[in-house]
Amino acid sequence: MNFFICNIMNQPKDHKTRASDESFCSLLVGFNFIFFTGLLAFMLFLPFQAVLFGSDTPHGTDASHEEVSDASPATTAELSAATAVVEVIAPAAGKAAYMVCSTCHGAEGEGNTALNAPALAGQQDWYLKRQLIKYKDGVRGTHPDDIYGMQMRPMAMMLTDEAKIDEVVAYIAQLPVTAPLPTLGGDVAKGAASYALCAACHGPDAEGNVLLNAPALQNLPDWYIVRQLQNYKSGVRGTHPKDIEGMQMRPMAMVLADEQAMKDIAAFINSKAGAE
Ligand code: HEC
Ligand code: HEC
Repeated sequence: MNFFICNIMNQPKDHKTRASDESFCSLLVGFNFIFFTGLLAFMLFLPFQAVLFGSDTPHGTDASHEEVSDASPATTAELSAATAVVEVIAPAAGKAAYMVCSTCHGAEGEGNTALNAPALAGQQDWYLKRQLIKYKDGVRGTHPDDIYGMQMRPMAMMLTDEAKIDEVVAYIAQLPVTAPLPTLGGDVAKGAASYALCAACHGPDAEGNVLLNAPALQNLPDWYIVRQLQNYKSGVRGTHPKDIEGMQMRPMAMVLADEQAMKDIAAFINSKAGAE
């Protein structure tokens, strides 16, 4: 635009003003050069920002689990684009799809103990998306002893494509969080001691850690936490060859001596409900 101004100013005029106009003009052109080079550099830098400063994206939101293990910076950039899509979708789009989910997981995603369906509200979107993809792909919910996972799997299969998954996840992400009530009577103090190991990945307040692919646990009901720990320990979960993240979690559950230890940990995690 400044070039345009310069052209107008350089129209033949009387000789007195011409010289000063020209120096003003070269100043504008110089400014233009610096400004646009800076802008260009900034725009080129943007896609790499996530890679350099730690993106919000876990490895493995992609449906192709094979590529997960050798995630190059390029893969990470692609994945962050996929996650960004989850965030910009209007939650209203997923409302209709969530109607089905609400019959088990509750209208507000608060979960339903009688139906064995965990709370979904308060869980991170990247984790929800990854689980739905795992159910759909048969990476979760196909083990012959996974009674509850097998109830969930057909529901994930109803979400026909990634766009549908993104929509329903965006809807769940804005549901209000209800702190779960303890049902198993575990010992919080004992649980606090054994939770030290878990904190390395799930965070001190069980708030989750996207960079380690570890979900938030703080808003999950205690019975669900114990059942998943049992599933990991017995190999019902975390043994499918494509379940990369589950295979990281499984040895942690195997460290826990018995069901009482699991109940204690769940009681401690519940005591962190709602903590940021
Ligand atoms: C028939 C009841 C039922 C319906 C309907 C249902 N689910 Fe589930 N869902 C379950 C059960 C039961 C589990 C727990 C499985 C387990 O214990 O391993 C579960 C687990 C999940 C999980 C894993 C949670 C975690 O913390 O790992 C997600 C995510 C999920 N459901 C999302 C959905 C969505 C989205 C819908 C709707 C498209 C839906 N569910 C519909 C019963 C249901
Ligand atoms: C090395 C890191 C790591 C450690 C340490 C770890 N976990 Fe995990 N955990 C994970 C990952 C990764 C997942 C997600 C698996 C997936 O995406 O399928 C997970 C999943 C879980 C789940 C399932 C959550 C859900 O919504 O279904 C529970 C419960 C859990 N962990 C509890 C624990 C407890 C309790 C401990 C300590 C004894 C622990 N974890 C230690 C990495 C870890």
